[in-house]
Amino acid sequence: MRIYLKGLRIYATIPRIKDANKLAKYYTETNKELGIDVTLDKISAKEFIKTAIVNFNSMKEFHFGIYTKNHKFIGLFSIIQPNYSKRICEIGYWIAKKYREKKYGEDAIKIITDFAFKTLKMKKIFAFVNTNNKASIRLLKSAQFKKTHTSLKSATAFEKTGTHISTYVLHLAIYSDTKV
Ligand SMILES: CC(C)(COP(=O)(O)OP(=O)(O)OC[C@H]1O[C@@H](n2cnc3c(N)ncnc32)[C@H](O)[C@@H]1OP(=O)(O)O)[C@@H](O)C(=O)NCCC(=O)NCCS
Repeated sequence: MRIYLKGLRIYATIPRIKDANKLAKYYTETNKELGIDVTLDKISAKEFIKTAIVNFNSMKEFHFGIYTKNHKFIGLFSIIQPNYSKRICEIGYWIAKKYREKKYGEDAIKIITDFAFKTLKMKKIFAFVNTNNKASIRLLKSAQFKKTHTSLKSATAFEKTGTHISTYVLHLAIYSDTKV
């Protein structure tokens, strides 16, 4: 069964195989921008999606494609390394460059954190970000994430030479407070 998370401007669901081309293009572009030397071609993007379906169903990790209301694939928001006993997880995310600064990111982070707290019953959600990544830090702050320290090691963040990684956390209690 396919899960759909509905936001104000976008919806989130497992990326569709037919969007493998766009996933490859946008993922490669975004990594290049971030100085990460990892690329994806159409064939590996298809494999990525197939694995994402298996991992989603076994609750190992959750890769959500982000779609506009008219079904354009625009990015990926992921819940990774969920620890169901400690009730913690990490999120990673990107929106393709041409769709940025339209509040799609803010919308997406809300529905993804909502899913992590309400469906996965997480207590804390961590995010790791380069200290020079202003957009990502603004996005986290807009979603009430606070700077913190953790022994959890990021599964996604790569430290570029000359930059540092900061850790942010969103606590269930803070999230619940902002909902009332
Ligand atoms: C981070 C990212 C997902 C934000 O997505 P987005 O759809 O553009 O974000 P939104 O339009 O919802 O804006 C979210 C907040 O970030 C701010 N913002 C967006 N782009 C910005 C930029 N280039 N510089 C500074 N602030 C920026 C917005 O003003 C907004 O803040 P506000 O609520 O205080 O006004 C997007 O910039 C991105 O994919 N970046 C490259 C990948 C990346 O850095 N991933 C995170 C790795 S840790």
